[in-house]
Amino acid sequence: MTSGGDCAGLNAVIRAVVHRSVNTYRWEVLGIRQATQGLMAQPPQAVNLSPDKVDPFLTAGGTMLGTTNKGNPFAFPMPDGSVRDRSEEIIAGYHQLGLDALIGIGGDGSLAILQRLAQQGNLNLVGIPKTIDNDVGVTELSIGFDTAVSIATEALDRLHFTAASHSRVMILEVMGRDAGHIAISAGIAGGADVILIPEIPYTIDGICQTIKKRQEHGKNYCLIVVAEAVRTEAGEAVTLASDFEQCRFGGIGQYLSEQICGRIGAETRVTVLGHTQRGGTPSSLDRLIGATFGVAAVDLIAQEQYDRVVTWQNRQVRSVPISEAIVRYAAVNPEGTLVRTARGLDIYLGD
Ligand code: F6P
Repeated sequence: MTSGGDCAGLNAVIRAVVHRSVNTYRWEVLGIRQATQGLMAQPPQAVNLSPDKVDPFLTAGGTMLGTTNKGNPFAFPMPDGSVRDRSEEIIAGYHQLGLDALIGIGGDGSLAILQRLAQQGNLNLVGIPKTIDNDVGVTELSIGFDTAVSIATEALDRLHFTAASHSRVMILEVMGRDAGHIAISAGIAGGADVILIPEIPYTIDGICQTIKKRQEHGKNYCLIVVAEAVRTEAGEAVTLASDFEQCRFGGIGQYLSEQICGRIGAETRVTVLGHTQRGGTPSSLDRLIGATFGVAAVDLIAQEQYDRVVTWQNRQVRSVPISEAIVRYAAVNPEGTLVRTARGLDIYLGD
């Protein structure tokens, strides 16, 4: 089951799970459609997966099973506006399909929901971490992060030349929710001059001084990367809209553009990368980690080691209890290597 927002590399995970299960253990594998909603449906929505069926999806973005990041089953939004606890329907769907174990591929939110379901219904659950935000603290890398960083880096590469041609300040707004991992990684890799992340406060003056300093050195343009959850200088969150489950970030790039233009008259343009960071061909690293996680998760089931999530640490696959994965949120460490590296490259990160 894939759950939560999609990202590149999910199909590589599914493929590895199917190959290991079918070829090594001779098990039957069902893919659940649309996350928990597939188990909630009557009859449960699942598809039989064979190596032949999954192989063509290795290089495809998204998830061949479909997913959703809405509809917490413990407070499920009903058409009449009420919310209902539908957890027992999902548990019933698991048993109706005759499942022996469930592999849940998700971020911390999805893993928390799946673990609660597993505890309530006695389900045998193994988790695989995926999120472009890379904020699951027990693993150095989650599926989808590397591809998202590559896409953001490529966007900066493209913006570089048009910025220089027109003497403009180019602002690239990237995803990441409350963590600045995509922004700082792509910013360093793509040669940004300013990187703003939610973990480090900044000033508009600091940004403007960076632009002016570059101009004094004959550099007529500037590349700024901003993470979507960065707040205004006054500390206000910039959001598009919010449903009752979570707010959607968006608009900090435009805010910065107006502030910079108003303060020093620089010509600014904003690019919001949005969901392009979640789509497209998965990078080789996402496929590699996807394959490793898929095989390791199936092996955990073979060893009857449930309630664990696979992790990537020091080029090794390991596993930890799901409860640990849920509580260990990882934002960018303001004293960490990447922040020190960015500062060492004279990139403005804030004060
Ligand atoms: O958590 C992954 C993520 O892509 C975030 O970076 C982003 O804020 C959010 O999901 C977007 O969600 P949606 O697909 O609902 O617009």
